[in-house]
Amino acid sequence: MSTIERLEEIDLNITNRCNIGCSHCLFAAGPEKDDNLSLGEIESVLEDGRKLGAEEVHISGGEPTVRRDLEKVLRIADSKGYFVRLQTNMWAFTPKMLPLIMETTDEVLTSLDGLEASHDLIRKPGSFQKTTSSIDRLLEVGIRVVVITAVQRKNYQDIPKLVEFVSNREVNAHFLFSITPLGRATQEDVVSVIEWEKLVEKLYETYKARDLSTDVVCELHHLRGDESFTFNGAECRLYTRNHAVVLPDGRVYPCSMFITTDKFLGNIKKEPFEEIWSNSPVWSFYDNRINDPSCGNCKLIALCKGGCPGYSYFFTGDITKCDPRCEPGMYPVCPSWKLNLRKATLSCSTWRVMKR
Ligand SMILES: C[S@@+](CC[C@H](N)C(=O)[O-])C[C@H]1O[C@@H](n2cnc3c(N)ncnc32)[C@H](O)[C@@H]1O
Ligand code: SF4
Ligand code: SF4
Ligand code: SF4
Repeated sequence: MSTIERLEEIDLNITNRCNIGCSHCLFAAGPEKDDNLSLGEIESVLEDGRKLGAEEVHISGGEPTVRRDLEKVLRIADSKGYFVRLQTNMWAFTPKMLPLIMETTDEVLTSLDGLEASHDLIRKPGSFQKTTSSIDRLLEVGIRVVVITAVQRKNYQDIPKLVEFVSNREVNAHFLFSITPLGRATQEDVVSVIEWEKLVEKLYETYKARDLSTDVVCELHHLRGDESFTFNGAECRLYTRNHAVVLPDGRVYPCSMFITTDKFLGNIKKEPFEEIWSNSPVWSFYDNRINDPSCGNCKLIALCKGGCPGYSYFFTGDITKCDPRCEPGMYPVCPSWKLNLRKATLSCSTWRVMKR
């Protein structure tokens, strides 16, 4: 059954160009890419987004700071009353940008993908130092900072120390995601279900007893049917329609798990965002799953709803199939679901899990 809510947040990927080129990038971004949303297209999506109810925009890419007109983008988003998040790798960040960020941006998200050696291996030599010094500058002037870590085989061993490092800097929040094997990331880069479970348990035991100022927020991957935290598959964004992803070439999706497929709802370079979101015929493709997740008589179906439709479609070519990550005794959880280790709260939205 569909549980349609109002649109809450837009992921606005304004370019697929990037000045570094990480080994795990799901967008396979790099210096050779040149898809960009024009300022007019950005303004129009943000205007329509407000009409549909959206209050939050996440400006990302590729690397948004490679755009010379980033100032205009931020001012447009701010002028429309959005809570503005800017995600950047900090490679091109300079202190000259601080006044603009203070005026227009509510939160800066940046990536730390390990301690220095593994971060620089995954990202670019010198990147760890640039990112950590930029984080310090932003925090000094009172900007909220969120660190994101894409956990993978190359940095798995670093994670407990990295969480400590980030918390000691008094960053506002630290999000830990397991990488999705899309773009340049491969299945071999992904840590196993059991390794992930052990990591989350270890971090949970370490942090629940401590009075941290940083919210440590983890993806869950899988849950066991008897756990006190339960995932409700009906909060999948395909059912709630509360989150839109707009790519630099104009395609619109309800979840980034589908961005490598042709199942885009429409293209904002051809028709208005409001029309796409409200009336796209492609919603019927996603609705197939709502009506028929084919998991036989599994007793977890009411909770799990067959797992993540994105994983089903990507790995089996059939959106109605059971999530291929399903493991005996465990059920697969939406990659967007997070556990806030400090507050012991669980939610489908990173932002909701912070507020609860
Ligand atoms: C695509 S980047 C864009 C913003 C900016 N360039 C950056 O790296 O922070 C947004 C976030 O997605 C993460 N990411 C990239 N590839 C990923 C993957 N395969 N799975 C999960 N997260 C990924 C990055 O590490 C980063 O934290
Ligand atoms: S993750 Fe960010 S910094 Fe790395 S290649 Fe992708 S867009 Fe660029
Ligand atoms: S994905 Fe697995 S646990 Fe979930 S409903 Fe299907 S069979 Fe059951
Ligand atoms: S990641 Fe999967 S389960 Fe989560 S919102 Fe997207 S399609 Fe739904």
